[in-house]
Amino acid sequence: MTSSTTAAFLQPVRLSPDGSTLLLLDQRALPGRELWLVLNTIEAVAQAIESLAVRGAPAIGCTAALGLAVACRGFPVERGGFAAACELAIARLARTRPTAVNLFHALQHMRAALASAGEDRPATLRAAAEAYVAGELEACLRIGEYGAPLLPEGTILTHCNTGALATAGFGTALGVIRRAHALGKAIRVLADETRPVLQGARLTAWELQRDGIPVEVIADNMAGALMSRGEIQAAIVGADRITRRGDVANKIGTYTVAVLCHHHRLPFYVAAPWSTIDLAMLAGAEIPIEQRDPDEVHFHGGTRMTPIGVGARNPAFDVTPAELVTAIITDRGVFTPAELARAAG
Ligand code: MRU
Repeated sequence: MTSSTTAAFLQPVRLSPDGSTLLLLDQRALPGRELWLVLNTIEAVAQAIESLAVRGAPAIGCTAALGLAVACRGFPVERGGFAAACELAIARLARTRPTAVNLFHALQHMRAALASAGEDRPATLRAAAEAYVAGELEACLRIGEYGAPLLPEGTILTHCNTGALATAGFGTALGVIRRAHALGKAIRVLADETRPVLQGARLTAWELQRDGIPVEVIADNMAGALMSRGEIQAAIVGADRITRRGDVANKIGTYTVAVLCHHHRLPFYVAAPWSTIDLAMLAGAEIPIEQRDPDEVHFHGGTRMTPIGVGARNPAFDVTPAELVTAIITDRGVFTPAELARAAG
């Protein structure tokens, strides 16, 4: 079911006022149409995550938490039946996308809430999900505060979409850009188009234009030439999972940006909430990388771009080694990868 509404303040993942449905701004339709999905089953929520109607690591976690809070209103009332239905729902949501660790943090948060719930279990899960989302929004605002002073004036390159759409609101890397702009820094943004799904061209450009922040879109293969001409001063990206040693999984193409920054001696910043750091993992090679449908590469705007019979590869993420990361901006402060490794223990 869908309905058309425009929120004054962009909260792309939220509950209806009575808590009976999950409202998602359908990111597949942007920038052409602002279409809201109205969901109330685990299967519908899982499919929204898989189909990229909602995407971005923190937003996926928030969607899973709120989706469970909504769907559990239809679960059996009796304690054992309720708990069993919750476990099935958590297992389905955990199978949607493997790379963003935020999803698993959110599900763990909900499981812990369930364990301590009294008689009104749906109310407990709703409160837990809303607290999770509020915490994620607060984390973005903190990231913006910590990160804004680091950005130089001039042109900032970003990759994929890390804004309000990808989070509980405000954004991570885009939140840093938003805050720097609000503080009066003279910043222009170059948004990598981010093939094959075009999160940069469609979503980052849409968000920044909405906020009046100067933005231009470039094809993913243009950044090197622009850097070589001195036209880019820094890059900032988000993350789907960061290991204890500071290796960063993010949207495919991020590694290329980091290598280019290294070659051109430009700062390469990663902005992410603490919930994106996977303390259980040391090396980036351990991070599961989602392989998506090759048709996302074969087709563009409904037209096939490749000869029938030719294959395509579609890893959704790559891993940037810690050595290429200047600093990681979190809601707990700014860390070099070495400092992060010490803080993570
Ligand atoms: O496949 P996506 O669009 O979910 O990938 C999103 C990214 O790679 C983002 O950069 C990352 O999740 C950080 S969002 C604040």
